[in-house]
Amino acid sequence: MFRVELRSDTFTLPTAEMLDAMTTAELGDDVYGEDPTVNALERRAAQMVGKEAACFMPSGTMSNLASIMAHCPRGSQVIVGAESDIYVYQAGGASVCGGIVYHPVANRRDGTMDLEEIEAAFPDDPDDPQFALPALICLENPQNHCGGRVLPLGHLKAIRALATQRGVPVHLDGARIFNAALACGVAAPELASYADSIQFCLSKGLAAPAGSVVAGSRPFVAEVRRIRKMLGGGMRQAGVLAAAGLVALETMVGRLAEDHANAVRLAEGLADLDGVRLDPRPVEMNMVFFRPPDAAAFVARCGEMGVGVAELGRGRIRCVTHAGISAEDVDHALTVFAKALSEPASNPS
Ligand SMILES: Cc1ncc(COP(=O)(O)O)c(C=O)c1O
Repeated sequence: MFRVELRSDTFTLPTAEMLDAMTTAELGDDVYGEDPTVNALERRAAQMVGKEAACFMPSGTMSNLASIMAHCPRGSQVIVGAESDIYVYQAGGASVCGGIVYHPVANRRDGTMDLEEIEAAFPDDPDDPQFALPALICLENPQNHCGGRVLPLGHLKAIRALATQRGVPVHLDGARIFNAALACGVAAPELASYADSIQFCLSKGLAAPAGSVVAGSRPFVAEVRRIRKMLGGGMRQAGVLAAAGLVALETMVGRLAEDHANAVRLAEGLADLDGVRLDPRPVEMNMVFFRPPDAAAFVARCGEMGVGVAELGRGRIRCVTHAGISAEDVDHALTVFAKALSEPASNPS
């Protein structure tokens, strides 16, 4: 375990209040729909993103997979960002489990996709039997791999309009939707309103030990629940986890500003370090990206000194601030970074 863990907000530990709620939660069999704590979490989660209903899921990956499968028939296409978590990091689940073809569209540096490229996924003649037809557009907001970018509202509106015109739904991977809402000063229900369905994670910046939520219309969520069971995600006395999720929703959303401020503090400190190429775009949420001269050596050297950082491809380092990181931890990390840059190899003596 690192003294300062900046690899991801998935390393957050449950709070004392969560652990307490987990031991006292009222439980039942959730596959029967009889776990009162899960039911309470689902009601609250749906309300917080302005949707009719919600389903508690084991993970963000299963949430996205079940949502895609609920929207898309076998043999159809799902349009995804080429830099999206769904496309890059979720093991091709929609193809493997759902017989659905991914149609990746390049993400620009700000996370957006070219509307014309999305349009091009739709064949001129949808009755031509040669083509697998697009059945869904997926968005990710904030867009993690593009540097934690918060998608502009105008882009969300444009994608919504395109999807409506083409007669396909929109699914939003909003793993960190409350970070996005805070960053752009727009309430989560509005961000979710441009999508037919949304998944968000309780186990990242909100610090619950596990779990995500899919929200959407009642019939859509009923279909997700059926697919969740099929995928092996029916969890019986899941109220133990939902109890922590409820505390996460009530107590952790309001403190995300602290993580954003710590990310800015980290970026400002990095800007003063020689040898670091900092992503010039302003830090919008709890992620900071930069390039040291040798990313692998930098990760190893920081690790030796008790600071966990991650390489996120193409020589980029990602640092994520979260509930387990204080301003003092940020300052300590900066001291370690300076040392790792000035003394890249550990002294064997
Ligand atoms: C944007 C995004 N979506 C989905 C996921 C998957 O969530 P999980 O790890 O709970 O499966 C992640 C995980 O980091 C993510 O960053």
